[in-house]
Amino acid sequence: MSHRPVVRISCTINGVAREFKAPPMRRLIDVLRDDLGLMGTKEGCGEGECGACSILLGGEPVNSCLVPAIQAQGADITTIEGIGSPGLRHAVQQAFLDHGSAQCGICTPGMVITAAWMVEKKLPADEVARTLAGNLCRCTGYSAIIEAVQAAIVAAQGSRG
Ligand code: FES
Ligand code: FES
Repeated sequence: MSHRPVVRISCTINGVAREFKAPPMRRLIDVLRDDLGLMGTKEGCGEGECGACSILLGGEPVNSCLVPAIQAQGADITTIEGIGSPGLRHAVQQAFLDHGSAQCGICTPGMVITAAWMVEKKLPADEVARTLAGNLCRCTGYSAIIEAVQAAIVAAQGSRG
């Protein structure tokens, strides 16, 4: 019988204090999806190549398929469930709707997480394509995504005066 050590991990997810037990090296994406029921984070490659599993860890985008659970200890985590709400979409989510930027949807949560981070960091619109290079999409050809993120950045900068 195998006996894998389990640790208790405390963190904040989408603004809510959470505590869970997991083997320290369990993938954070598995904790989020399978243990905590946050199914919005998607798995594409599982190898750190596609960005589908992007979350914010300590305010920075990471591939949650590469992050061991222990790195969540004490961390502030944002998943796609923490971006906007059905009644009040984030500017990036609205822009994705307006530009028809989602097709199969596998890449969309990771794209939106990364794009929301860009808006937050006030990145210039002309850096969108380069910054999204780690988020792969098999469906859209990227232009509808890039246009949406640029529109969200411009809108956010306009609303900030
Ligand atoms: S599923 Fe994590 S980078 Fe592809
Ligand atoms: S919409 Fe299908 S992978 Fe991007």
